[in-house]
Parts: sequence; C-alpha cells; structure tokens
Amino acid sequence: MCGIVGYIGDGEATPVLINALKKLEYRGYDSAGIAVLGNEGLVVRKAKGALKFLEQKIASEIIKGTMGIGHTRWATHGEPSDINSHPHTDVSGKIAVVHNGIIENHAKLRTWLEGHGVAFRSQTDTEVVAHLIDFHYNGDLLQAVIETLKRIEGSYALAVISENDPDRIIAVRKDSPLVIGAGRGENLIASDVPPLLEHTREVYYLCDREIAVLYRDHVDFFDEEGTSLSKKTVHVEWDVEAAEKGGYEHFMLKEIHEQPKALTDTLRARIGTAGDRSINLEEIGFDASWAEANRVVITACGTAWHAGVVGKYAFERFARIPVEVDIASEYRYRNPIFNPKDIFIIISQSGETADTLAAMRMAKKGGARFIAITNVVGSTLAREADLVMYTWAGPEIAVASTKAFTTQLMCVYLIALQFGLLRGTLDREELAACIAALEKIPEQAGAVLANKEEIQRFASRQFNKTKAFFMGRLFDYAISLESALKLKEISYTHSEAFAAGELKHGPIALVDESTLVVAICTQTALFDKMDSNIKEVKARGATVLVITYEDESYFDRTADGIFRIPRTLDPLSPILSIIPSQLYAYYCSVLRGLDPDKPRNLAKSVTVE
Ligand code: AGP
Repeated sequence: MCGIVGYIGDGEATPVLINALKKLEYRGYDSAGIAVLGNEGLVVRKAKGALKFLEQKIASEIIKGTMGIGHTRWATHGEPSDINSHPHTDVSGKIAVVHNGIIENHAKLRTWLEGHGVAFRSQTDTEVVAHLIDFHYNGDLLQAVIETLKRIEGSYALAVISENDPDRIIAVRKDSPLVIGAGRGENLIASDVPPLLEHTREVYYLCDREIAVLYRDHVDFFDEEGTSLSKKTVHVEWDVEAAEKGGYEHFMLKEIHEQPKALTDTLRARIGTAGDRSINLEEIGFDASWAEANRVVITACGTAWHAGVVGKYAFERFARIPVEVDIASEYRYRNPIFNPKDIFIIISQSGETADTLAAMRMAKKGGARFIAITNVVGSTLAREADLVMYTWAGPEIAVASTKAFTTQLMCVYLIALQFGLLRGTLDREELAACIAALEKIPEQAGAVLANKEEIQRFASRQFNKTKAFFMGRLFDYAISLESALKLKEISYTHSEAFAAGELKHGPIALVDESTLVVAICTQTALFDKMDSNIKEVKARGATVLVITYEDESYFDRTADGIFRIPRTLDPLSPILSIIPSQLYAYYCSVLRGLDPDKPRNLAKSVTVE
C-alpha cells in the first residue's frame, strides 16, 4: 500500500509533490521519490527511508518544472533501497512511472523484456511497466499506456509522465485507489484525498479500469480501450487529519475496516484460478519437501503468537502433523529440543520483534528450516528467513494489531492446507471446499463490519465492566486469547481468556454479577459443551454475549446477547469471529475516553527484550 501523487499546473511541482507525499506517508515509509519535468528534461530523485531523507537529498538543489509525479513506498517486491525506490524509468530515462499495487505477472514480463535486450536496474515488479510503455511508445503516450495495460495483470494505480509528452500526466487504476483533484489552473493525482485538500475540494474518484489524462486546465477520462468517458466531481467535506484516517476517527477503526481488502490481497495469486482449485505457494519458494516435516514449531509474540495457536489447530486438523506453539521470549531461554526434520513458522507483523528474532536465530543455529510470515518487506525477519510469506495488509499504524492478525491467519491456513494436500491427509475435494470457503471470507468479513452498530450498542452497556472473560473451545479458544488481548491493551479492562472446559477447574471462582463473559461458539460439534459452560457462568451472575453463526439458534435461550457472523467452515471461523471482539475493544476504549491508536505503556514494534 504505497502512496502516489501527481501535479500539473502553473506552479512549481517539486514543493507540491513533497508536501503531498507528507500527507500520504501513513501508507508507506520505506522510500520516497519524485520525477519532475522541466526545461532541463525529466529530473528523477529518490531515496531509501522516510520522506525526510529525500527532502535532505534535494535540499541543496532547485528542481524546476510545473509537472511531476511522486511516490512513498510500502515495499512488496524488492527490499527498501535507493534503486528499488519509485519513480522507475525506461532505459532512456525519458518515461517515469509511479505505482501502487502488485504486478502479478511481472516475472514473466521481465523475462520477455530481457529477451528483447532490456537491462533492468531494480528488483521491483513496477519497473516492467516503464519498459513496456517505452516498448509500445509510438509518439502517443496514452496509446502506449493502453497497450501496456493489455499485458499487465494484478492491482495497480499508476501515474506516468514522459519527456516527449510534456503537457499531460496519464493515470490509471485497477484494484488500487486513485483520486483526481480538479483545481484552478492545476490538476492533481493522489492515492487518497488528504494531499488534495490544500488545493481543492472537488475530486474525481477514478473507478477500476479507468484512465485519466491530466492537463493544466482540464482532465479527460477514458476506459482501458481508449473510449472517452465523462465523469463528475464530488465535493469533499473532511479535514486533512480525518482524511488520513480515511474519514475514520482512529487508525484502528480504519484498519479493522480494511480487513476485507487486506484478506483479498493476501489471498490473491495464492489460489489457482477457475477450474484449478489448488494453492500456489511457488512465489515463496515452497515445495513438497517442506511437507515432509515431522513436526511444525510455531513461535511468535503477542497477537502473532495467537495466530500461531490458530495455526496449531489448523495444521493438526488439515495436515495431521504435530505442532508446538511457543511464546518466543520463553522459547529462546528454554533450551528447546530440535529435531532436524522440524519446520519452523515464525510470525511477526513488524518482522523486528526482538524475542521473535532471537527465537528464529536459535532455530536457524539448530539447523531448522523456517517460513516467516510477516507484513514488512525488507524487515530483519524477512531478510533472514528461508522462505517469506507476506501478509499483504499494508502498513498497520495502530498499536493494536487487527488486519495483520487476520491476514496472518489467511497465510497460516494456506500453508496448512497445502501441507495437508502434500501429506495426503486432505483430498482434492476437501481442499476445494476449503478454498471456496476462504474465497468467501473477505466478503463475509465485510458483512460482519456492516453490523458493527450492534457491537457498539452492546459496548455502550458493558464498557464499564471491570472484568471480562472470553471463552471457547479449540479454534474459539485461540480467538478468546486474541479477544482478551485486544480489550486489555486498548481499554485497560482486566480481561482473560479461558478454554471453556477449564473454567470449573478454578477460574469460575472469579465469576460474579460484575463479570462479562463473551463465549465464542463456532465449533458446531461442541455446541452442547459450550452451552453448559454458558449456563455455569450465568448461574454465577455473569452477563453473557455469544458470538456464533447467523443461522444458529442453539444459544438463543441461554445468551444475554448474540452477535452473529456469516457461516463458514468451523476451522476457518477465526478470521470472522475475531472481528466483533476487535470492535468491542475499540468501542470500549473510545467510551472510556482513551486513544485506541496509542495505548499507554505499549509500542507498535517491541525491538528490545
Ligand atoms: C498486538 O496488538 C500487539 N501490538 C503486540 O502484542 C504484538 O502483536 C506483538 O508485539 C508482536 O508484534 P509483531 O507481530 O510485530 O512481532
């Protein structure tokens, strides 16, 4: 999830581009760059790291020109570096491109272009676009872009400028956001509204497969075939800060709502298309030898560890392989027993958590092979891993992890299912059913979010509860752990998670009228067990909210409140059943007058022991 900008007008482009990028830095901060077209031709400047490094780099020079494009990067293909920073240019350096999204067939196009003598400079997927435009350029930049779009696959918001075409910017979108700002004597492009608000409140929202051609005094629109389109502007009311949060009050609520897209992106290109109901993990270099392991060891911290607990149930269920899940800070000092045929899965949103890295290095020293699941390209974990599977969640700003967690689950399921197929514990039919269910999950997550007011109302009645217990069995127990952590870390409520069957072995002593119990009930075969556990806590005066399936009436008579999620296969329910708990924690935090984005005593990435 990068940020792209563009400006064409009567003013100097450089300061406008830099200022605009500042408003998009929440979308990515691995590197930044601009390309400005002036009398001296195309000037490209880019630098690894936060935008300030680019500013330092160009501070001593005046880059003249009234048209340009810019980019702030969230790395997906190619580590953060100067050379992998955008804009990318063609061999002549006359055409510049900035891109947000993923060109899925970049490897094939790269080989084809190299076969035509093109020398690549970077490891990015984006550079193929610059070379393809050059390849198809025949005096008309728009036509060259249209020809290029016929060859690229994936998601893209692109802005293109060329020295040979100094009076217009070409912008295109497919599955990545792009907004056009209609100003007076100037027009702008941006991945989101914030950068535009200083110039105009009249914006065009570009739809998928639409092209915009920006001139200083007007904007033309076309479809991908080049047929002219007419579009109307929309007037924007938001202030800049609200806009950075996409109109949400907090980054956490925004990120909770970004889960459907993050899940779609994380699933994309890892599932065969049409009749081919298979999982494709080639992109991470996964092969059948990985599934020959004797044991899977998962290690991580905090929310990532909870994803590991879901992983344990998933691997044992789908691949019938023994799984050990370890808290990294325990694992690193436990002198663990290695087995050369162990496979390690190391999970970390940031890829920089000190305890997790230490556990990973121990496993490595022990000769184990491991797969890293992380959200940050170029992070230490990604760089040291044998295999890396990225969660395509985009930058997660709020300290409380939400979309990174659900996309970690998506990755864990994909690997577990592939293990199952390769180990013969899952047949093609079962796999196809799981894949079909996984493909529905992003939309179903959207359906859960559509009912958020119900959770908001429940929170407004319960947020003052001082004790909250989350309980469940199997996959639901894992989600109880994560639910309790969310409530703890942002509302400061003392909340705990229990395997529901464990209650009567002690914790039930804590239950009284002041206790809220959230029972997560999606494991159909254990509904009767859960129902008795619910009756046990209700008998001690607890208020009980049940999270279960939309068409499930099993708990109608026992629960005080029921939040319903769309039905899916029981083992896959965690991706959906966690969302109401994320929302509950969020609303309790806000109702208690706290800042859900910056909870006390916590940091987004714990890089110290
Ligand atoms: C989760 O909301 C917390 N921010 C925290 O528990 C976090 O999951 C943990 O610190 C691990 O971080 P990582 O995924 O970046 O390694």
